[in-house]
Amino acid sequence: MKKRTDLSVVILAAGKGKRMKSERPKVMFDLAGWPLIRHVAETAKALTPARLVIVAGHGRDQVEAALDGFGAEIAIQREQRGTGHAVRSASRLLAKQGGTVLVLYGDVPLITAATLKKLLSTHRRRKAAATILTAVTADPTGYGRILRDDGPSGAILAIREERDATAAERAVTEINTGIMAFQSDLLWPALTRLKADNVQGELYLTDVPGLLIGKGEKVVAVTADDVLDVRGINSLSDLAEAAGRARMRILADHMERGVRIVDPSTTWIDRAVKIRPGATIFPFTVITGCVSIGKDCEVGPFSHLRTGATLREGAQVGNFVEVKKTVVGKGTKAKHLTYLGDAVIGERTNVGCGTITANYDGKDKHKTTIGDGVHVGSGTVFIAPVTIGDRVTTGAGAVILPGNNVSDDETVVGVPARVVSAGKERE
Ligand code: UD1
Ligand code: CA
Repeated sequence: MKKRTDLSVVILAAGKGKRMKSERPKVMFDLAGWPLIRHVAETAKALTPARLVIVAGHGRDQVEAALDGFGAEIAIQREQRGTGHAVRSASRLLAKQGGTVLVLYGDVPLITAATLKKLLSTHRRRKAAATILTAVTADPTGYGRILRDDGPSGAILAIREERDATAAERAVTEINTGIMAFQSDLLWPALTRLKADNVQGELYLTDVPGLLIGKGEKVVAVTADDVLDVRGINSLSDLAEAAGRARMRILADHMERGVRIVDPSTTWIDRAVKIRPGATIFPFTVITGCVSIGKDCEVGPFSHLRTGATLREGAQVGNFVEVKKTVVGKGTKAKHLTYLGDAVIGERTNVGCGTITANYDGKDKHKTTIGDGVHVGSGTVFIAPVTIGDRVTTGAGAVILPGNNVSDDETVVGVPARVVSAGKERE
């Protein structure tokens, strides 16, 4: 993809997130299988900026690790002295870049590339010094308010933080989403003029538009179509609300592409999950991490697919089946009460009710390999590492010990399992 040489993106992610009541840095909380910061970084990447800078501070090691290999630059804000100070931390990297600087907040994860493109095109068309993404909401509590001229122009005057606002200002329902585009050469000098003369004693990015207006520069706004896309995550209840929104978006996207989701209200699918059209997901299914589901697969009801699960075409997993780091072959079925972990299962195998791959010996994880056309009897336990050939049958309740590999066509029964009918070649 061609990079936009005139665009730099800065994502603010240095704050502690006190209101989350957790040691974990706020931007590292999980939303649909990715930390918040990853959602914002992926959306930023879709704009193909020339530079992408993440401002990290609190928990910076975790933030850096989460974006390892992502191609973003990291600027460190050692002390968290406010959002204006945070942007300034990126000046060393970006001051000479010129063009447009787009500031995103690491705690506003559901922002879409479409909304940002709209913001950037207005910013360029109007040749504004700064363009603010605003939103209108019945409940503006906690957000900065957009103060506009009462006159017919309705021009923007300033942004007022809630803590610094008068009662009349608090009644304003147009809020600052935090997302702003700036002309680079006007932004960096303005940041040096910020003062911490506010209730929090911080250097607010939100004071920059007012400073620019004071210098006779043009500041305009773009209003987001839906406030739910631009909500900031400040508390665990904000996070739960955003997770619900992310979920509906993900499900809608799958349905749009031809995946049948029988009951969206009880289905959770993480953002990195890949599902081929023609698959059906039944109610009460949870699919987390990196999972891949083939054409015509059936999943659920009540299935839990975890990271590393791959279901090949036409595979079926059903009630109370958990699958982790396992390949379930073409047309293979595991319909009831089963755990499949660290396994590779061939094609057209039937995994009976209550089957367990016992993959963990208390210290290490081990692998189970099961062939094609196997008939796994109910309640079979495979104690890994173990390899089972093609067309094997296991009796109900068989326990197959580590290393007791079973050859093609054999039937094994009992505890520990022993061969009762040998493979064809030995008949
Ligand atoms: C901020 C805005 C507010 C806006 C709201 C939108 C300011 C002063 N206020 O308030 O107008 O309505 O977002 O969600 O900007 N951060 C740093 N370093 C710091 C402080 C914050 O990197 O020193 C980062 C945080 O990690 C976070 C983002 O900046 O990702 C916003 O900080 P937060 O403290 O949540 O600001 P709000 O109070 O929500
Ligand atoms: Ca916030």
